[in-house]
Amino acid sequence: MDIYGYIKKDHRRFEDLMEQVEKARTTAKRLDIFRTLKAELIIHAKAEEQSLYAAMEKATRSKAVEKKLDHTTEEHDEIEGFLKQISSASPSSDQWMIHFGELKHACAHHFEEEEGTLFEKAKSYFDAAQARQLARDMDALKREMMADA
Ligand SMILES: [Fe+2]
Ligand SMILES: [Fe+2]
Repeated sequence: MDIYGYIKKDHRRFEDLMEQVEKARTTAKRLDIFRTLKAELIIHAKAEEQSLYAAMEKATRSKAVEKKLDHTTEEHDEIEGFLKQISSASPSSDQWMIHFGELKHACAHHFEEEEGTLFEKAKSYFDAAQARQLARDMDALKREMMADA
């Protein structure tokens, strides 16, 4: 699998987890799924920054691409901010679901941007072997972070 397929697979999993959060019948179940989502999303974003984003920063000579990477990194911070807001809201409150809606919206936008313009740029920098190596790198980083967590 290359880095594009690898990241897309994670994104689809997050969408599935978010749907499960919304469909959960009890608060306990909802919180349980949310905790998994939160841990995995944070690790995904950090590993992505250290693999794909870092490799793109190295490969590019374009100011526009550098700006784009700054922007998507800021979105990671924004997503982490929503995760924290949700965690600190009362689980049975409307506020919890409002923040969750904001998270979902931010993720949808972010995934679309990565899978669209960002991947398109990356594909012009990396050949197939490099793209597969980046997937292995991201996977190794995630495993390391999960072991530490
Ligand atoms: Fe991503
Ligand atoms: Fe991302």
